[in-house]
Amino acid sequence: MRVARVQAQAKVNLGLKVFSTRDEQGYHMLLTTFQRIDLADDVVVRSGGGSRSLDVSGPRIPDGGLGPAEKNLAYRAALAFVEHPKITMPRGFSIELTKKIPVGGGLGGGSADAGAVLRAMNAIAPQPLDAEDLRDVATSLGSDVPFLAGELVTATAVGRGELFQPFPTPNASPMAIIIPDFAIATKDAYAWLDHDRPNDGFGEFNGFGVGAPPPSFPGWDVFGEDGNDFEPVVEKRHPVLRDFREMLTDAGAVLSHLAGSGSSVFGVFDVLSWSTLDHDALGLDVAALGADVIHTRTSARVVEVEVLQ
Ligand code: C5P
Repeated sequence: MRVARVQAQAKVNLGLKVFSTRDEQGYHMLLTTFQRIDLADDVVVRSGGGSRSLDVSGPRIPDGGLGPAEKNLAYRAALAFVEHPKITMPRGFSIELTKKIPVGGGLGGGSADAGAVLRAMNAIAPQPLDAEDLRDVATSLGSDVPFLAGELVTATAVGRGELFQPFPTPNASPMAIIIPDFAIATKDAYAWLDHDRPNDGFGEFNGFGVGAPPPSFPGWDVFGEDGNDFEPVVEKRHPVLRDFREMLTDAGAVLSHLAGSGSSVFGVFDVLSWSTLDHDALGLDVAALGADVIHTRTSARVVEVEVLQ
C-alpha cells in the first residue's frame, strides 16, 4: 500500500473572458488568469488492493451530500489515472477527502480535489506520467483540473483552460471570500451567458496570442478593468452578489470579483486595508444576507505532495 497526502488548494480567476467560439465538445474558449489560494481540501490517497472507495467528511459538505462516489471528480480522477495505458500500478485505491472548500462556489473545489488526486497518484506511481500526459488526463475531467493538477501558482490560461503559461505570482495577499447560501452550477452560468450575449456580439476567440507574461506582477488594478464576463449575467439573476462585491470594495478590497462562475465573491486586500478592516462588521452584514465569510490568502506556492508510505 502506498499513501500520499496533499492539500487541494482552491483557485480564483483574477480575470475571466469567455468567447463565443467553442471546441468540438461544445466548451467555450476562455482567456483567464488563475490564482491558487490557501483555502484547501485535505486529500489522502492510498493505492493498492482490489477495491475502490471515497470517504468524504468536513465542514463544507452540502446538506444533500456530495452524491455517489463514482460521479465524484476525485474518484473519477483516480480511476482515469489507474486505467491510463502508461500506468502500471494496482487498480485499487481509497481516497479520504476533508471538504473545506464550499461546493458550487466557483472556487474549483471538485477540480482541486481531482487535481490533487492526480498529483498524489503521480507521486506514488512507480513510473509517473510526464506533465503532458498528466495534463491530458486532467483535461478530460474538466476545465479547471489541468491548472489544479499542475505546478503553477499563477497562470494565464487559454483554450478550455488547459493551455497555460506562468504568470508572475503576487505576494501572498489577504483575501475575504463571501459564501452565499446558494450554489451556482457552472453549466447554468454558461447557459445564462449564451442567452444574454448571443454569438454575434460576443467576441471570437483569436487564437493563443496572449503575449509574453510581464516580468513581475503588474498589480491588482490590471484585473479590475476587464473583470469577469460572468459578473453581469450572474448578478442579474442573483443581485445580492453585486451587493457583496460592493461591500468588499467599500471595506477596502483592492480587487473584488465573482469567483469563476459563482456563487462566491472574493476580495483581495493589501496589508493596510486588511489591518483596518472591521471583520466583525463585515461578518454581521454578510450574515444578515444569509452568507458567511472565509478568510484566506492568495498562495505564494503550490503545496507539495507528502508521500507518507
Ligand atoms: O468544466 P466543467 O465540466 O465543470 O463544466 C461544466 C459545464 O459548463 C460544461 O458541461 C459546459 O456546459 C460548460 N462549460 C463551457 N465551457 C467551458 C467550461 C464549461 O461551456 N470552458
